[in-house]
Amino acid sequence: MKLAERMSRIGVESAFDVLVRARALEAKGRHVVHLEIGEPDFPTPSHIVEAAKKALDEGWTHYGPTQGFPELRETVASYVSRTRGINVGPEHVSVVPGGKPIIFFPMLALLEPGDEVIYPNPGFPIYESMIRFLGAKPVPMPLVEDRSFSFDLDLLREKLNDRTKLVILNSPQNPTGGVIPAEDVRALADLLRERDVMVLSDEIYSRIYYGAPPVSIATFPGMLEKTILLDGFSKTYAMTGWRMGYGIMPEWLVDAVNKLMVNSNSCTASFTQRAGIAALTGSQDPVDRMVAEFRRRRDAFCAGLNRIPGVRCALPSGAFYAFANITGTGMPSKELADLLLEEVGVACLSGAAFGEYGEGYIRFSYANSFENLMLAVERISAALQSLRPSRPLRAAHH
Ligand SMILES: Cc1ncc(COP(=O)(O)O)c(C=O)c1O
Repeated sequence: MKLAERMSRIGVESAFDVLVRARALEAKGRHVVHLEIGEPDFPTPSHIVEAAKKALDEGWTHYGPTQGFPELRETVASYVSRTRGINVGPEHVSVVPGGKPIIFFPMLALLEPGDEVIYPNPGFPIYESMIRFLGAKPVPMPLVEDRSFSFDLDLLREKLNDRTKLVILNSPQNPTGGVIPAEDVRALADLLRERDVMVLSDEIYSRIYYGAPPVSIATFPGMLEKTILLDGFSKTYAMTGWRMGYGIMPEWLVDAVNKLMVNSNSCTASFTQRAGIAALTGSQDPVDRMVAEFRRRRDAFCAGLNRIPGVRCALPSGAFYAFANITGTGMPSKELADLLLEEVGVACLSGAAFGEYGEGYIRFSYANSFENLMLAVERISAALQSLRPSRPLRAAHH
């Protein structure tokens, strides 16, 4: 049986492939430091787990409303209104199984063949996958190290045209850890306000930052009605396996997402939604502690990487990824990532897995213990040292 043609255009996430390869090595007795997967290594805070257990005991085990339970939508609306300084109500909230469906459903609802989508490159691979899957045209917006992995506004201005239907933003960003400066977000809002475009603002890392807080484009005048704000529980509350996220969007798009949800999932799991209320209304101390620990690891891991000849790593401003420039090693990213996994047991991702502008970089997730991160630095250093006779190391260049 032949698959539908559109399946030839859908992509995947290489983090899951590398995890499988790393696990295969472990099955053969090898020790691997896992720096490939994008999830906090912390347990879900216990009061959230308790809320889910209680919900199960109370019988929250049946279908719920497609859009999400009103009480959770109220809680999300007030949380987002408070954290972003905007005013949204429960009618603007779609609760879905994870952050990803807020990429999948709104894009499915909005894009037609020929529509253009401007998206960050390097960026979360699902954006480009979905753009291609839907027959729309991917228009990459290069993120450059010189601009702390923000984008070039002049270039963006050039890329906008009447066919541009959607602009995707992600701050704090995967894979670079970049946070778009507030003045750039404002300039972008000024550029888009009068245009007939929508913005997908992926804010899944909204609480994981180390300097100035990220600013949502939805806060600027006239932008709320043009914005699909994606956030969720996966990263902030270490709940990746619970599968729960949400989108804030205009009601006409909420209606479309409801239709896609009813055709696919019916609703998000009921007892997890009760836990979601506990997450947003309960103590935020575990989040603060997690971010403080990420900061400690970030500082030490990046300092370690910067001591390795041929590697240079700018200090990321958010998320839990170090995006290291490895051009000084003289090796292509994929080759080096493969070598680090196979020769010294450090699982990491080639920057090119996040788009063509990620070539020359490796993404390391520092959601692993301090000790393992230091071990990884030692191993990377040793691996590059052993290459030296055949490949002279150069200073990392741009
Ligand atoms: C930028 C970005 N958006 C969305 C997601 C998806 O999150 P979830 O696991 O909640 O679907 C991820 C997860 O890695 C991500 O990095």
